[in-house]
Amino acid sequence: MKFKTALLLLLAVSLTANAQKDKKKNQIKPKKEFISELMAKMTIDEKIGQLVQFTADGTITGPVAGDNFIEQIKKGNVGSILNATTVKYTAELQKMNLDNSRLKIPLLFGYDVIHGYKTIFPITLGESATWDLNAVELAAKISAAEAAAGGVHWTFSPMVDISRDPRWGRVSEGAGEDTYLGSKLAIARVHGYQGNDLSAINTILACTKHFAAYGAAEAGRDYNTVDMSERMLREVYLPPFKATVDAGVRTFMTSFNEISGVPATGNKFLVNGILKDEWKFDGFVVTDYTGMNEMIPHGYAKDEKHAGELALNAGVDMDMVGGIYMKNLKKSLSEGKVTEAQINDACRRILEAKYDLGLFEDPYRYNDAKREKEVTYKKEYLEAALDVANKSLVLLKNGNNTLPLKKEQKVAFVGPLISDEFNIIGSWAASGDRHGFAVSVEEGINKIITDKSKISFAKGVEILDKKRDMMQAAIDNAKKADVIVAVMGEFENMTGEAASRTNIDLPGIQKEFLAELKKLGKPIVLVLLNGRPLTLEWENQNMDAILEAWWPGTRGGDAIAQTLYGINNPSGKLPMTFPRNVGQIPLYYNHKSTGRPYLGKADNEQKYKSRYIDVDNSPLYEFGYGLSYTNFTYSNFKISSPKINFNQKLKATVEVSNTGNFDGEEVVQLYIRDKVGSVTRPVKELKGFQKIFLKKGEKKTIEFEISSEDLKFYGIDMQFAAEPGDFEIFVGGTSATDMKLEFELVK
Ligand code: GLC
Repeated sequence: MKFKTALLLLLAVSLTANAQKDKKKNQIKPKKEFISELMAKMTIDEKIGQLVQFTADGTITGPVAGDNFIEQIKKGNVGSILNATTVKYTAELQKMNLDNSRLKIPLLFGYDVIHGYKTIFPITLGESATWDLNAVELAAKISAAEAAAGGVHWTFSPMVDISRDPRWGRVSEGAGEDTYLGSKLAIARVHGYQGNDLSAINTILACTKHFAAYGAAEAGRDYNTVDMSERMLREVYLPPFKATVDAGVRTFMTSFNEISGVPATGNKFLVNGILKDEWKFDGFVVTDYTGMNEMIPHGYAKDEKHAGELALNAGVDMDMVGGIYMKNLKKSLSEGKVTEAQINDACRRILEAKYDLGLFEDPYRYNDAKREKEVTYKKEYLEAALDVANKSLVLLKNGNNTLPLKKEQKVAFVGPLISDEFNIIGSWAASGDRHGFAVSVEEGINKIITDKSKISFAKGVEILDKKRDMMQAAIDNAKKADVIVAVMGEFENMTGEAASRTNIDLPGIQKEFLAELKKLGKPIVLVLLNGRPLTLEWENQNMDAILEAWWPGTRGGDAIAQTLYGINNPSGKLPMTFPRNVGQIPLYYNHKSTGRPYLGKADNEQKYKSRYIDVDNSPLYEFGYGLSYTNFTYSNFKISSPKINFNQKLKATVEVSNTGNFDGEEVVQLYIRDKVGSVTRPVKELKGFQKIFLKKGEKKTIEFEISSEDLKFYGIDMQFAAEPGDFEIFVGGTSATDMKLEFELVK
């Protein structure tokens, strides 16, 4: 494991170090001077053109804007294109633009490189389950290198939407429920995509989305209403966005939803107020796909022209596929509904990004067919994809140490996803190849098990289709095995955008098939391929082992096979709560106490508590939870002092020992509870984590530092500050840890 980590770190360094500078074509003036001179020459039409983005053929995720973008490019009316990829196609469009536009302002090509461009990494929720910031940054670095080699300048990532509702299909694209973890992961992704030199040819613009609170849609229904206090917005949902501004992200994307009555795309308080004025964001803001037009059905804009005025006045710089700025801004300007200064500011922000990418020096610098061939699917990239996938898997149950499997065991692999190479790379998989390229579980198993008499494969059921004609054959086949491994889950398109579910059980008759298999009295391992937390109470009671694999990407089948047979020891931890049933949602670890907290079984006789009469309050699997093939024990938890003042730091140390039979990685987590505040505080909040490697028998002392900075929150006066008082501090390998000490923050 250590060697592999070293190899990956070397890869990360090499990607940064040789931030390849290619030859400069045109020697140009310093940015401010160059752009001021360029803008002085631009007509108002040309300035508005920079604010316009059209989609190339292909991906349609919303209403299609009627205009043919080719004609608009020829008129010089387009500043950016999304969904155009490959060196060849982007060069073609760039040439069409440069040959026809008066001032030769290069097009900016944007694309959804969410968890890989060609080499596909685990879906972002899976990457987040690694709790490994180096791994996540490396995945973004590789994604950027491949995308840049494919002619792409800009990715619409990271998606940083906190969500506490697994009915929402887009949890698959995020970092789960926690603000602290989400912020750290967002920073890692921005650093990965943008590196420390945007003019390098293996870095691209990142885009923080969806601004803001899109993950709080009522009932987990995509695009639905969001209504919350400013305190909740600033405390839970905005920090990951702010973290990316501090990390230097160059673009933002507004979200489809309204927030407390005002759609984000026309929300002056949010965009100009918080993002640009308060946070001093100096990049540019793009709408989501026709998000501007949607202010009409929102009931916030009376027509498209009005929507454009609301958006520009709110601080939105670029119109994604809406065609509104292109058709209406000039008229709005003549009517004094918008100002030339606003148009100039938006145009400048976009031109500065193009300048920093080096596009004015050489508009074709990302169009090198030789480099595209060399970089795409590099062996070390595919190795990195396997490593990140291995780190993303979460072992949820392992009764009787059913796992890891032994090579001499006879194993029947069943389930609709055993041979799948389409869904395994998940939703939002950019230009990743599915058929004939992504590694299925069957392919991964066959690489490890050479004695084919030891393994068999029979689907038994489909994912959704309820036909039973394959089931008996699979059951008969399983009778001959020592162990059954069921590879089940969702279709990849059952998560991602516009994929909310009211029932998050295993779909179809997969559970019924498991019940039939259970009658054989053999150990059953359930491997899950899914994009969201599922409700698994029955499975948890009836399966011997459960491995959460999310959608693990191009090398997913290898990662699952290596984990099942113990070549990889799973180390993932849940970035999001798995509820017992949908009725508990929203369910998350950092909840408030309430005035009648239900403290679990001990309180069972107490009726008048904040609880249900039919289900326990606790989740099935909590945030931060994940098992290993080995055991980690925590001891000697100490803090440096029972009290600190506002200028002192508290040191917390704990000894972690690997007391099992496998080398492995553990995520040591630190939580804090502020017991009394000028507003109520959560029962626990993640304030630190460290992923460590311990050989079997090894132990390490892990140290954390806490200061008053870590204890700040929005008090009754809405000031972000820490308040003196009593605190609890927890350490452990899950949010459910009860290893606790206390300290006081004094004036
Ligand atoms: C989609 C998504 C957004 C994506 C954009 C461009 O509708 O909401 O996440 O980046 O359109 O594809």
